Amino acid sequence: MFNIYQTKAGTHSRRIRMPETHPSGGKKLPHPAARAPRIFADTATISEIKPLYQAGVISGVTTNPTLMKKAGAKSWEQAKEMAKELIKLVAPHPVNLELIELTEEGMIKQAQELASWGDNVVIKVPIGGYTAVNPSFDPFTGLKVAHALWQKDIKVNCTLVFNSTQALWAAQAGACYVSPFLGRLADYAYKNDLPERTPGNSLYWIEDHKNEKDDQNVSNSEYVASGGDRKDIGPRLIQEISAIFTNYDIHTEILAASFRNFSQLTECLLAGADILTVPANILQKVADHPLTSEGMKRFYEDSKVFEK
Ligand code: E4P
Repeated sequence: MFNIYQTKAGTHSRRIRMPETHPSGGKKLPHPAARAPRIFADTATISEIKPLYQAGVISGVTTNPTLMKKAGAKSWEQAKEMAKELIKLVAPHPVNLELIELTEEGMIKQAQELASWGDNVVIKVPIGGYTAVNPSFDPFTGLKVAHALWQKDIKVNCTLVFNSTQALWAAQAGACYVSPFLGRLADYAYKNDLPERTPGNSLYWIEDHKNEKDDQNVSNSEYVASGGDRKDIGPRLIQEISAIFTNYDIHTEILAASFRNFSQLTECLLAGADILTVPANILQKVADHPLTSEGMKRFYEDSKVFEK
């Protein structure tokens, strides 16, 4: 479990210089949580998003090809129709749509099309991994696209971020959001890291592969630079990015993604995330707690005495 005493108040000095996330809109009563982190729904399923949005639980949506497919899209045309519905439903709040083109030119063109559907569209650009799809692809495609879209005033969310280095480069390219995937990181560390080692330290990887080809010795395989418990790996990544962004007054928002449970929500809030994008099955239960339910039942029973 992420230790609360490891958290720093430094995040405040960064957030105070960023725009309000819950503006009061001219009301006499100022919003008491004007700079609170925003919560997005990590789903493309309209029937899940609608009640959460109408209840004020979320103020944005993130999607990806997997979530579009899960929501029932069987073609890109259907995915686009789904996206248009989402854009309309939550406007003016952000809808993050991921590009499926893989070349710089194709991605920029596709981003322009998606962005033309509403001012609330944010384009999700995978930061890297292009050579994994095809070794002949340019490894810098994502960064080039992110920078080109910034130049065109199109908002970018650099996705599939797994360490602070990637987050910094995304910010430098001009991304408005970076998405560290803390759940996938925790899953990976739990299954693959050797228990006797500090998790996430790429030096081990280099040591293990020192007799192999030169380029493998410089693989960007780090998760978190600071040592600690394997279970903390996700929030510690958020904390690292937050510390770096605070040090250098970087206003790119840290959009913590890939949640698996409630503890990770608390941990990411303590670690300095600006936005949490949360799956619907978790969001649906945010107002409840076993003791809240027990308390409510008791209040309800006792209130019967006041019935006429
Ligand atoms: C965020 O934008 C991503 O779509 C998402 O959080 C990925 O989560 P997963 O690891 O559950 O697929």
